[in-house]
Parts: sequence; structure tokens; C-alpha cells
Amino acid sequence: SPTNACLLPNLCDRLAPKLWDMLQGAATAASDRGWHLYLVGGAVRDVLLAEDGRPLQLEDIDLVVDGFHNAATVGAGVELANVIRDGFPGARLDVHGTFQTAALLWSARSDLGPLCVDIATARTEFYPYPAANPEVEASSIRQDLYRRDFTINALALRLSAPRAGELLDFFGGYLDLRAGLIRVLHANSFIEDPTRIYRAVRFAVRLHFELESQTVDYIHYAIASGAYERSRSERERAPALQTRLKAELKYILQAPYWRPAAHLLADLDAWRCLHPDLVLTAELWWQVRYLDRCLHRLDRDNQLDRWRLRLEAIVAALPHRDRLDVAAALQLPADSQERLSTLNAAEPAIATVLSKDSPPSTIVVALRRYQQPLLLLVLARAPKLLRRRLWQYLAHWSHIRPLLDGNDLRARGYKPGPQYREILDALLAAYLDGKLANRAAAEHWLEQHYPLNAR
Ligand code: CTP
Repeated sequence: SPTNACLLPNLCDRLAPKLWDMLQGAATAASDRGWHLYLVGGAVRDVLLAEDGRPLQLEDIDLVVDGFHNAATVGAGVELANVIRDGFPGARLDVHGTFQTAALLWSARSDLGPLCVDIATARTEFYPYPAANPEVEASSIRQDLYRRDFTINALALRLSAPRAGELLDFFGGYLDLRAGLIRVLHANSFIEDPTRIYRAVRFAVRLHFELESQTVDYIHYAIASGAYERSRSERERAPALQTRLKAELKYILQAPYWRPAAHLLADLDAWRCLHPDLVLTAELWWQVRYLDRCLHRLDRDNQLDRWRLRLEAIVAALPHRDRLDVAAALQLPADSQERLSTLNAAEPAIATVLSKDSPPSTIVVALRRYQQPLLLLVLARAPKLLRRRLWQYLAHWSHIRPLLDGNDLRARGYKPGPQYREILDALLAAYLDGKLANRAAAEHWLEQHYPLNAR
């Protein structure tokens, strides 16, 4: 069992030499002061998973300092961060006062970077009353690990001597890693931190793990008990919670595995965490995937924020008011909120334009005031009949330019001015409606409709 084995060689083999040096330096600084230093969280999980000896690209590292008994050492994490920074210059140091955590950030240009190292002082979190921030107290590593999300993320690898390289596994995380299971540490985990449902799904899909059955029960219980509804209405806790929820949604919806993840969230009925009425029905799921296929064809160079459009398509299944509430609570960027807000009026207006037997030029004139992302949302939700024409607009008509441009008009002696717009629009309309086959036809058309000697 790795609990008894020294894991330092595993770590050393898989990390970039500079990073390894940095961790060793930090460990020595900690033991010189009589402290313990641990590598915790995702890095330990990933080191244990990378059994084939593949090198690990760690960009986020969590360290915990522990092993002191007086209140003055609550700032141990910050002290250690300063020592590391002296040895590996170029880092930005951020200190989060209340929690006594320090974050060191090396940019991509530095030898170590891009790298973010969080150093926390082992702590227990209490929730004395729901809206309060977790109170902080120097405490043991076990308590620190106990407040974490899943057993596989609650492993610690001791970096400092004595017993450097020892794995601390209080909750069976190693066996769960081997068995491929996502398991919470206690029944209240999802109620204390509702974003953990999304994290559970993210890890399960990313690592090809399963959700342990009791953990699934806890998820169902947390959703059924309305934990999310309550936390949304707790004024002090809600903004931080929504920020984390948005971060998880982004993480999931922009990942290559977003489809199975969204599906698993639906199986758990966890979309209700965004709004109690939000259900990923078969129809909605079809819309989201259809939107994605359209994105692949239209947005080849990845200009659009696809994760947000996916989220908007899902949220758009709610009635108008609720869409806005969800978007505002999640603090989505202004253009997302704007789209969800416009959708209600834009949808019927666009449907009217498309349903008439209008020529392409009329459709182009009517639709060009709308931006492509909004039209994509409308497209995904539109009935089949309208979809065909809207797709034609998005894929073809909206890209068509008149056969002549302003330079051509000038070369032919037309005086620059507002009339250019009118002429070019009229040329475009004629072209869109199939009245002009080529440039020569356009020139002929120009002479007929806007004769020069008449100006
Ligand atoms: N954590 C937690 N509950 C959360 C978020 C984080 O308990 N809601 C803990 C977990 O122990 C996690 C650690 O904080 O391992 C670091 O969080 P994060 O960087 O988000 O996750 P990683 O496990 O490092 O995952 P990733 O590889 O995706 O970065």
C-alpha cells in the first residue's frame, strides 16, 4: 500500500526539475521551523493516477502547513510563501488575510510558470451560522482534509521530514482512486457546498470514474431538500456560491467532455440547481447539441464563447423572467444577459420575417440588426420550417457582399456620399434575389438604375 511507501520518487520523476526543487526548498524551510508541509488536493490525486510514469504538467498546486500549537503561527503559510519567493524570484504574492492563505503566481514567461501555488495553514472550518464565513483556526491536517470534497481529493503527501513522502489517507481515498469512485466524506457535503454536485460530475466524467451510490443518494437528497434554493436566498453566502457555480459550469461546458457531463447532470436532475424548474428534457438536449453542430460549422476559428452559448441555450428553456434571474444570479457577462433578455421579443419578430414568403433580400435587411450569437440561439430553438431559412441566412446570405464596392463606384465617377450605401444595398438585394449573375451584370444594372448623367 502506498500509505507505507515513500512517494517522493514518484513525485520527483513526474515533475519538472525546477518545480521539484521548489517543493524541496519549501519542505526544508518548513522542517527548519518545526512545521510539516503537505502537498494536497488534485496534485496528489494526479500523481497517484499517473502510474505509467508520464510527466505531470501541474499548473495549480495546493500546499498545507501544519504542526504548531500557538496562535502566532497562523501566518505560517504566508511566511513560507515569502521564503519560496526569495528562492524563486519573479512570483506575485497574494495574501488572503482572513484565511491566512498565500498564493504565489509565476507567469508563463518565468522558469517555473505558468504556475500557481496556494499555501494554506491547516484549518478547520466551522459554519456557526449559515451566512458566516468559515471561521479559521490553526488545526491539524486531518481536519483540513476532512472539509474537502471527495476522498480522492482528500489525500495529502508529506513533503517535509521526518517521514517525507508518506501518504496521509484518512478517508480511503487511495482505494477509491483504484476503484474509480467519487465519494464524499460526509452526508452534508453537498448541502454545505452545493457546487460540489457539479464537481462530482466533472471529476467522474473527466477521470472516467463512477459516482459511489451513497454519494448519489446524498446528491438527490441535497437537491430534493432545496439546499440550493436556500443558499441562493442567503444574501451573504449567495454571491460567492454563484461565482463558484459559474466557474464550475464554465469548466464543464467548455471541456471536451461537456456532452457526457451535461448528460450526467441531467440524470442527477442537477440542472435544477440553477433553477427549480430547469430540466434537461430530450428536446432541450437536442437543441443544445444542434446549436453545437451549427457552431462547428459557422465558428470555425473559435471566436465565440461556446460554453456560454451552451449555457444560454439551456437557460433559455425557462420562461423569460426566470432566464433573467438565473443569468443575473450567476453574474453572466453583459452580452449573455442581454441576449437572454432580447430573446423573448426577438424570437417572434424573427419568426414573422422568416415565415412569410419573403425574398432573401428582405430577410437579410430584417435580420442584419441581430448579432450572430443571438440568431444561433433562436435557430437552435426554432421549429424545423424556420430553421432552414435561418440557417441559410447564417451560413450564406449574411456573408454575401454586393458584386461591386465603394471603390468601384468611385472609379466609375460616382460622388462619394450617403448615396453609396443606398446603391450598394440595392445592388446586394438584386444579387441576393438572383437578378444578377456576375460583375458584368452588376455594372449593367448600375447603369440602368443609377445612371451617372442623372446625378
Ligand atoms: N475543494 C473542495 N471543495 C470545493 C472546491 C475545492 O473541497 N468546492 C478542495 C479539493 O480538495 C480540491 C482542492 O480544494 O482537490 C483544490 O480545488 P481545485 O483546484 O478546484 O480542484 P483540483 O482537485 O485541483 O482539480 P483540477 O485538477 O480540476 O484543478
